[in-house]
Amino acid sequence: MKLTAILWSLLFMATMMIASCYYDVEEELYPSGNCDTANMSFSQDVMPIINQNCNICHATGVEQGNVILDNYDAVLPHVTNGKLLSTIRHENGVEPMPQGQPQLSACTIDKIAAWIADGALNN
Ligand code: HEC
Repeated sequence: MKLTAILWSLLFMATMMIASCYYDVEEELYPSGNCDTANMSFSQDVMPIINQNCNICHATGVEQGNVILDNYDAVLPHVTNGKLLSTIRHENGVEPMPQGQPQLSACTIDKIAAWIADGALNN
């Protein structure tokens, strides 16, 4: 009776381990499977990302590094000079952003890149 219980719990644990491995592999196979970068909008997609990740330091009145990112007109020059994208991509020669925090997810970066590729419209 006791042995049966142990065997069942071992079987259960093995099943859980196999299941979690399966999901890991699936995520690796389809890394951007659920990253929708179509029709990115400044107000609906880009501004919320920047507000959440950047504007604790880059809002009007805080302005770290003299950079303001809390409205379209302020963001645009950093699109034009390439720094918005190069800082979040952690490219050489620029300060990696968000400063002191982990890099944004690949999907989040792709969304901003897609908005820029579509013309960086105030949409
Ligand atoms: C914890 C505060 C903090 C956060 C959060 C932060 N920044 Fe910055 N950022 C700074 C500081 C400080 C500088 C000036 C760095 C320097 O020149 O040494 C700066 C500079 C910049 C610059 C100018 C870089 C250059 O080389 O001219 C850009 C563009 C920028 N940040 C974009 C962003 C973006 C986009 C985010 C969000 C993804 C972000 N920052 C989040 C503090 C922050």
